[in-house]
Amino acid sequence: MPDAATMEKIVALCKRRGFIFASSEIYGGLGSTYDYGHYGVLLKTNVKNEWWRAMVQERDDIVALDSAILQHPKTWEASGHLAGFTDPMVDCRTCGQRFRADHLQDLQCPQRPSKHPGEATQCDLTEARDFNLMFETTMGPVKDSGATVYLRPETAQGIFVNFKNVLQFSRKKPPFGIAQVGKSFRNEITPGNFVFRTREFEQMEMEFFVPPDEAPRWYEFWKAARREWYVDLGLREDHLRLREHDPDELSHYSSGTADVEYLFPIGWSELEGIANRGDFDLTAHAKHSGEKLEYFDPQTKERYVPHVIEPAAGADRATLAFLVDAYDEDELGGEQRTVLKLHPRLAPVKVAVLPHLRKDGLPEAAQEIYAALRGRVQSEYDEGGSIGKRYRRQDEIGTPYCVTVDHQSLEDDTVTLRDRDTLEQERVAIDGLADELAARLAREWRSPKIAGAEA
Ligand code: GAP
Repeated sequence: MPDAATMEKIVALCKRRGFIFASSEIYGGLGSTYDYGHYGVLLKTNVKNEWWRAMVQERDDIVALDSAILQHPKTWEASGHLAGFTDPMVDCRTCGQRFRADHLQDLQCPQRPSKHPGEATQCDLTEARDFNLMFETTMGPVKDSGATVYLRPETAQGIFVNFKNVLQFSRKKPPFGIAQVGKSFRNEITPGNFVFRTREFEQMEMEFFVPPDEAPRWYEFWKAARREWYVDLGLREDHLRLREHDPDELSHYSSGTADVEYLFPIGWSELEGIANRGDFDLTAHAKHSGEKLEYFDPQTKERYVPHVIEPAAGADRATLAFLVDAYDEDELGGEQRTVLKLHPRLAPVKVAVLPHLRKDGLPEAAQEIYAALRGRVQSEYDEGGSIGKRYRRQDEIGTPYCVTVDHQSLEDDTVTLRDRDTLEQERVAIDGLADELAARLAREWRSPKIAGAEA
């Protein structure tokens, strides 16, 4: 059966339910920048928290860092971004649009959408020129060349320039890692596909410093571990793959890179890259800064520049993949239901408390339960509209459980607990409801979209 998710449906749901919407909408929007609303923030925060959990909480060899977005311009000289972080671009003198020269076959001519740019008779493309993707700005009040700084195009370099600080204060020795989550900026020529490729986005990157002879082993380890992270959070395995880069695809710093790819509605596309960066970064920053960026092993008396294995993921892109994978449509009571079958750990709201009717003391009883639950799990109270409508609303934002308070609740202190995926409704005692929910939320979960998962 074809997947229910299309990019149009995901965009529409995100807007309808306030997950993600175009930025600066009242001014007509700003090309490919997006704002996250309440449920979008909760969802993306859960994605980032799961990353922190896997990287830092569940390991004792990785520490956290939050480096500045603005860094010394020499950082980008050393990293190679000033000279080489470019895409070839062409301009069309007729329509005034700019295109990636190496993506023309995937793009539409804005005036003749059935043609690629350059193919229609009126198209008049310039020669390809290299275009640096870093955003420039000015530090301080004087706009001279000495004051030019760049918004970081990746979080990784903030980690490398702090290698010495972290080594000193964390009391770690290779193999150890430094993890960072934060905004990055790239003046992409052709952003698009919703939050898949934007000019402002969040990255989740970890640089793992290892003795040089251990690099191949750790490269294999992190490729497998990062793929597994997505599987554990419910992405369907037949929609995930690891793709090793061909030698001609490798970045200047990399001796091996593999992408975790997801089968988005736009086709197989990169979710995350895992690269063996060798000693490129520490050596380059040592050369440009004059600082020694190496490790001295007091036991072996050996001094060496650690090699780096880097899993580099995108928080927005991962959030999009989880949304796509979760999106489903089915029929319920003769009506079509749209549902986000998100892993319960990722779901923005874990439980909704709903009084069956807006009278007879049911709202008061439901409010009491809601007040008790919300300190434990992200909860929501909703009394507006028919019960069916309210279930539909929670299904659309992916809430795994709904608690309904009815007249029986007032008699025997039980409520109905409805499961988003199985649609089963059970009566459970109000006393112990929070523990019951916690136990259910902690259970292993498989996407019900996998054939036979519900069997
Ligand atoms: N430090 C290595 C690095 O930045 P990358 O493959 O350029 O590698 C890593 O970026 C991840 O960041 C990508 O796999 C993707 O998930 C995310 N990413 C990169 N550019 C992006 C963009 N323009 N919009 C959204 N996410 C992006």
